[in-house]
Amino acid sequence: HPAMDSPSPWRTLLASLIILMALVSPTAAPPPTPGEQAGALLAWRATLGGQSQRALRSWGNTSTLCSWRGVRCGARRRPVITGVHLRGVRLAGTLGSLDFAALRALTSLDLWRNRLAGSIPPSIAALGELHALLLQGNQISGSIPPSLANLTRLHLLMLHDNQISGEIAGQIGELGNLVSLDLSGNQLVGSIPCEIGHLNHLVRLDLSDNKLSGPVSFCPANNSTVNLENLNRLSLSRNNLAGPISKDIVNLSSLQHLDISQNNFSGLIPGGVGGLNKLTFLHLSDNQLSGPIPPEIGNLQRLKQLNLSANHLEGYIPTSLGNLTQLTALNLSTNELIGPIPKEIRNLVNLESLGLGQNKLTASIPNSLGNLTKLTTLDLHDNQLSGNIPRELGYLVNLEELNIYNNTLSGSIPSSLGNLTKLTTLYLCYNQLSGSIPQEIGNLRNLVWLTLSSNKLSGPLPSGLCSGGRLQNFTAYNNMLVGPLPTSLLRCTSLVRFRLERNQLQGDISEMGTQILST
Ligand SMILES: *[C@@H]1O[C@H](CO)[C@@H](O)[C@H](O)[C@H]1NC(C)=O
Ligand SMILES: *[C@@H]1O[C@H](CO)[C@@H](O)[C@H](O)[C@H]1NC(C)=O
Ligand SMILES: *[C@@H]1O[C@H](CO)[C@@H](O)[C@H](O)[C@H]1NC(C)=O
Ligand SMILES: *[C@@H]1O[C@H](CO)[C@@H](O)[C@H](O)[C@H]1NC(C)=O
Ligand SMILES: *[C@@H]1O[C@H](CO)[C@@H](O)[C@H](O)[C@H]1NC(C)=O
Ligand SMILES: *[C@@H]1O[C@H](CO)[C@@H](O)[C@H](O)[C@H]1NC(C)=O
Ligand SMILES: *[C@@H]1O[C@H](CO)[C@@H](O)[C@H](O)[C@H]1NC(C)=O
Ligand SMILES: *[C@@H]1O[C@H](CO)[C@@H](O)[C@H](O)[C@H]1NC(C)=O
Ligand SMILES: *[C@@H]1O[C@H](CO)[C@@H](O)[C@H](O)[C@H]1NC(C)=O
Ligand SMILES: *[C@@H]1O[C@H](CO)[C@@H](O)[C@H](O)[C@H]1NC(C)=O
Ligand SMILES: *[C@@H]1O[C@H](CO)[C@@H](O)[C@H](O)[C@H]1NC(C)=O
Ligand SMILES: *[C@@H]1O[C@H](CO)[C@@H](O)[C@H](O)[C@H]1NC(C)=O
Repeated sequence: HPAMDSPSPWRTLLASLIILMALVSPTAAPPPTPGEQAGALLAWRATLGGQSQRALRSWGNTSTLCSWRGVRCGARRRPVITGVHLRGVRLAGTLGSLDFAALRALTSLDLWRNRLAGSIPPSIAALGELHALLLQGNQISGSIPPSLANLTRLHLLMLHDNQISGEIAGQIGELGNLVSLDLSGNQLVGSIPCEIGHLNHLVRLDLSDNKLSGPVSFCPANNSTVNLENLNRLSLSRNNLAGPISKDIVNLSSLQHLDISQNNFSGLIPGGVGGLNKLTFLHLSDNQLSGPIPPEIGNLQRLKQLNLSANHLEGYIPTSLGNLTQLTALNLSTNELIGPIPKEIRNLVNLESLGLGQNKLTASIPNSLGNLTKLTTLDLHDNQLSGNIPRELGYLVNLEELNIYNNTLSGSIPSSLGNLTKLTTLYLCYNQLSGSIPQEIGNLRNLVWLTLSSNKLSGPLPSGLCSGGRLQNFTAYNNMLVGPLPTSLLRCTSLVRFRLERNQLQGDISEMGTQILST
């Protein structure tokens, strides 16, 4: 899972857990003998594939048990194994033949990123001291054994990126010490058990990329009114979850990261979301949400990413979004929003990506967008925007993608767009743009995709077109262009698609075709 590899909160969490694990001294049953433990590990190794035998060739001499590869012992007179850490060493086999009872003093078992298959044996419940179980990135299948609920000391349970199926049983609520639970990237079905709400130490919960369905609610543990009060990261994306965004979610007051995108949630976005004032990341995209965008979202002053795209949201874009000055990405595209682009958007000076395409927005493009100089992507396509293309867009020197096709924009193409030297994508088609195409457009040497078709453009094509040698798709059909084809275009070997019909252009297009075929 890419999210696991880098972020520092993860490291901090791990570090504090290690300290915690060091402080909590295991009590319980008599510790296993060295022979018992060595026997269990050697018997397991014997069942693993050949490559694994090589990786574990240091295993053998019982009197040096604590220096076997991946084996860690606690500080005791007799060697007692407290950790088995074999991350990414290509172990192939199953856990079925591992005698967990003989390793009952284990506090951490880390077999991350191997080639383990088969299911998690119910006998894993014997690891009563276990704080961390990391089995992610294997090919483990079968369902989560109910007996896992006996591992009540678990802080970390990482089973993501496997092929685990079946339902998540309500007993998971008995793992009351869990800090991080990641079951993402499996094939889990059924609903999310409300008992997850009992896990009051949980900081991070990731159930994304499964086949979970039904509504989401979290029930509080006995004698508690609050759910998941420490949860700061909740990812449920890419499932088939449905129903409203419940008050149980809106009440998760510590949330910093909330991603429920690509599900089937419906109903309104509750105004109470505006109370989650620690949020930096809010993705509700690709659901069936309807109604207006609640203005209270403007209270989320720490937001860096807001994605509400691909829903059925309607009404005006609230001006309060102009308060979200930390935003780097704002995506409201593919909804039914109406009215103008609010001028307050100009306050979002940290924006790198602005997506408002496929709505019903009207009026003109605000000149003040020219102040958002960090923008790399500006997408306003498929709206009803009118008026001129503001020449101020020429200040957006970091822009790589400018997509304003299928509006009712008129006037000429501002020559200032020639300043946008990083542009790879310039979609201006399906508008009412007139006048000649500025020569400066020919200077955009990084252009790969250029569409000018279905406008009222006249005059010649700019002479430098394709001078950067990157142009792949170029359309200018259905205009009133005249004159010869520029030689730079005739020599354009990168082209895979061009359409210039319905103009009065002259030149040997067949020669161009030959060039294309010959590459
Ligand atoms: C096992 O390790 C001990 C301690 O290092 C050593 O004395 C002994 O010879 C080793 N036994 C074998 C069979 O290698
Ligand atoms: C799990 O715990 C329950 C109740 O504490 C106990 O009855 C059961 O035997 C345990 N299961 C395993 C596999 O240890
Ligand atoms: C919660 O309370 C119910 C009934 O009072 C009881 O059966 C259950 O065991 C309790 N659960 C916990 C985790 O204390
Ligand atoms: C709540 O706690 C009180 C005392 O701590 C106890 O008497 C009561 O039974 C508990 N209620 C539930 C539902 O567990
Ligand atoms: C929301 O949390 C507050 C405390 O933070 C609590 O008083 C309230 O009952 C909770 N509401 C719901 C619906 O869970
Ligand atoms: C999504 O929910 C709607 C009702 O809100 C339902 O009609 C539709 O079948 C659901 N889609 C899927 C893929 O479950
Ligand atoms: C926003 O959500 C849409 C739909 O799920 C997705 O295609 C897009 O990549 C997301 N945008 C950002 C900036 O995350
Ligand atoms: C947020 O925006 C609204 C509308 O633009 C404004 O009235 C309000 O004062 C702003 N709030 C803050 C905290 O800046
Ligand atoms: C851009 O910002 C500057 C300084 O904040 C301001 O003076 C100027 O009017 C803004 N330009 C536009 C087009 O909004
Ligand atoms: C332009 O947008 C309208 C809706 O606003 C849509 O019906 C039409 O198919 C779009 N045309 C093109 C060429 O994308
Ligand atoms: C941007 O383009 C305009 C018109 O082509 C030109 O006058 C201006 O100097 C350019 N600005 C920058 C910063 O390159
Ligand atoms: C470019 O043209 C090719 C060939 O017609 C087409 O398959 C592709 O979708 C186009 N790409 C873009 C980004 O327009």
